[in-house]
Amino acid sequence: KHLAIFASGTGSNFQAIAEAVQSGKLKAELALLVCDQPKAAVISKAENLGVPTFVTRPKDYENKAGYEQAVLTEMEKHGVDFIALAGYMRLIGSTLLGAYGGRIINIHPSLLPAFPGLHAIEQAIAAGVKVTGVTIHYVDDGMDTGPIIAQESVAIQPGDTADRLAERIHSIEHVLYPSVLMQLLNEE
Ligand code: GRF
Repeated sequence: KHLAIFASGTGSNFQAIAEAVQSGKLKAELALLVCDQPKAAVISKAENLGVPTFVTRPKDYENKAGYEQAVLTEMEKHGVDFIALAGYMRLIGSTLLGAYGGRIINIHPSLLPAFPGLHAIEQAIAAGVKVTGVTIHYVDDGMDTGPIIAQESVAIQPGDTADRLAERIHSIEHVLYPSVLMQLLNEE
């Protein structure tokens, strides 16, 4: 399987998935990083690992369909057949869903359907819940709404800050995301 990762930021999940590929645990090729933020730290992580990158600004295209068509063309060049969103801060539109629907998954830092959208960790703290977590789900045309594949809970401690909670959430993500990808991609 040829896997593309879409990311907009730090890329710690990208790194965790790349390490699973390198170690041979995840039997897939990391075929492409798609990034919509030219200054994102994830880009140098991909370059260091020799993963091809497609870095482009959606603003440079006439509309979302134009942008997604450019991404699609690049993915076809690299033979991509599965997509993992890892901190990609943009809704997937009908062009990409039409081509890859059912083969795109996302990771979100809450127990969906609670706290979709931006700042899920801060939302959970503000709501006063005692348990939050991580969700991996298939992507549909909504915001963090597709069918759920896996979830893991994380307790919120009294006095937790968003930073401290985010650290614990990230360390769970870095194990859960590679392991879900192994389940989905290894057997074929
Ligand atoms: C993760 O917390 C993920 O759940 C969310 O965005 C964050 C990405 O972090 N969708 P990183 O760029 O992988 O470090």
